Amino acid sequence: MYRTHTCGELRLTDTTKTVTLAGWVQTVRKFGSITFVDLRDRYGITQLLFSEALNADLDANPLGREFVLQVNGTVNERSSKNANIPTGEIELLVASFKILNKSAVPPFSIQDDTDGGDELRMKYRYLDLRRNIVKKNLELRYAVGRSTRNYLHENNFMDIETPFLIKSTPEGARDFVVPSRMNSGQFYALPQSPQTFKQLLMVSGYDRYYQIVKCFRDEDLRADRQPEFTQIDCEMCFVEQEDILNMFEGLVKRIFKDVKNIDYTEAVQRMTWEEAMWNYGNDKPDIRFDISICNLKFPAHTFPTKESQSALIDGVSFGVFDDAETVVAIAIPGCSEYTRKQTDELTEWVKRPQIGMKGLVFIKCNADGTFKSSVDKFYNEEKLKAIAAAANAKAGDLILILAGAEEKTRKSISDLRMFMADKLGMRKKDEFKLLWVLDFPLFEFALEDQDGGGAGRWVARHHPFTSPKPSDVDIMINNSPKVENLDKYLEHPYASIKANAYDMVLNGNEIGGGSIRIFQRELQEKMFAALGMDAEEQQHKFGFLLGAFEYGAPPHGGLAFGFDRLCAILGGSESIRDFIAFPKNNSGRDVMIDAPSTIDAKQFEELQIKLDLK
Ligand code: AMO
Repeated sequence: MYRTHTCGELRLTDTTKTVTLAGWVQTVRKFGSITFVDLRDRYGITQLLFSEALNADLDANPLGREFVLQVNGTVNERSSKNANIPTGEIELLVASFKILNKSAVPPFSIQDDTDGGDELRMKYRYLDLRRNIVKKNLELRYAVGRSTRNYLHENNFMDIETPFLIKSTPEGARDFVVPSRMNSGQFYALPQSPQTFKQLLMVSGYDRYYQIVKCFRDEDLRADRQPEFTQIDCEMCFVEQEDILNMFEGLVKRIFKDVKNIDYTEAVQRMTWEEAMWNYGNDKPDIRFDISICNLKFPAHTFPTKESQSALIDGVSFGVFDDAETVVAIAIPGCSEYTRKQTDELTEWVKRPQIGMKGLVFIKCNADGTFKSSVDKFYNEEKLKAIAAAANAKAGDLILILAGAEEKTRKSISDLRMFMADKLGMRKKDEFKLLWVLDFPLFEFALEDQDGGGAGRWVARHHPFTSPKPSDVDIMINNSPKVENLDKYLEHPYASIKANAYDMVLNGNEIGGGSIRIFQRELQEKMFAALGMDAEEQQHKFGFLLGAFEYGAPPHGGLAFGFDRLCAILGGSESIRDFIAFPKNNSGRDVMIDAPSTIDAKQFEELQIKLDLK
């Protein structure tokens, strides 16, 4: 037997027992004639004490970091205890030991605050994974997966595998393709998601499906995006949006409970896409802190449901505001006493190329009820007071105002809002706030070519299988998608069509999204046509789905969570790489196995592919 116990198991109650442990040498410390070794395995660390009697053996078989060691001995109460580890009250008096395998000196230290940089740790990921901090992340991931499976199983969902070698399923990214040796000149695509298959399973009557499944997307990478990532993918029959929202907020609440012991009893907040864009400047707002945007001016088309407050800023000939398409303000609590240097720094921050604004206007709402602003020349005390009231600012707040082109200004104020919240410690890692964003637009208009499909056309905001809101179906059926005047695409009826789609947002991150689907052939054809696909292309790409819709397709809908993202946020990190055992770097490379790489000439030959690298 290699071991009787693990390295995290022994306690005071085990003293005098004779045990065998096996693990990796974390540290070796010599104190005079005795030697202490910390032995580590997945479960913890146990201190080993080698007495003087073993010195000759140790001299003949010297131990080094990361050696694989088997030891036999007696459990003993420690004289100096370590309250930081569960085994800290005992040590093992070693009677005999055996080196099971040696180790080269590791390129970085296997401990929480390691000296290894990112690149080095990824190259030796198998060593990195030995670190406690990384192991904890994978344990959390496993716990999230287990909780998910339990909840979905209890709710009658069935785990069904779908194929990886398929035809393109569009989710807005490029496909990874795989050549087929047996079908010369033809390629499979790896699924960007199992979207069409899960819909076919609904047609087949498997009314509650789920899968924790790999998806593949060839897109630009960021901290929260990997080329292969995992989804909790779900679909249900005979449901409306409300059923889906209830079922899956139940799932996330269950995960909170099982994994973090958090009772998330409050109802998950909901807001429409328009409210999110208007009040927070983006479609995945972090609502852990109470700063929202006051729209002092916006183009009429943007938020037709809201009146502009421009009367507050008009009429003083302040060109910066008068000439701007959009003027937006946020009130930052408790910052009215910012110095000139601090407000200058904020101005520099918004002027950086990443943000790209021309400047920043501020109003200090002093504690004594007076106001001081960078635009005192234009706005008197009374006007400043009215703006402050509109911006919901209290005495002691600092109002920050940006003006410029609509989209950019809205994005910038959203970034500034997050920047200030980070600065003021308002985004607490251990606080979790869920949000449903609803009623997304069904279409986006691609003024420029995004994916090779051409410019000046409608693209599906979510994916082409999402249904329009029932009240908007007629707009789609009764209007041609053609946009005559590209400058005025927002006035086209299609721009107003809302989707039966929803995203779940956690602490400012989109952790999941889905929709109620189109399930009638005619409407699906209309949708494909709106996206610029003629009948032939529809048949070539999605004939199987259109065909299936003719054989009793039930009403259905679903969603998918980004499993890696959910784990990262629960683990208090923004980077999903920390929660994936073998992730890729930002260029999509696995630096450990050195992939992607070239293939043999023979493989090219078999695949009948000629590579012409010039
Ligand atoms: P969507 O494309 O919104 O929907 O993806 C669902 C969720 O997956 C996560 N995600 C990613 N995570 C890591 N790396 C990536 N590259 C990446 N891309 C997406 C996000 C996202 O919310 N088939 C639909 C779902 C449905 O309609 O049921 C879909 O895939 O957290």
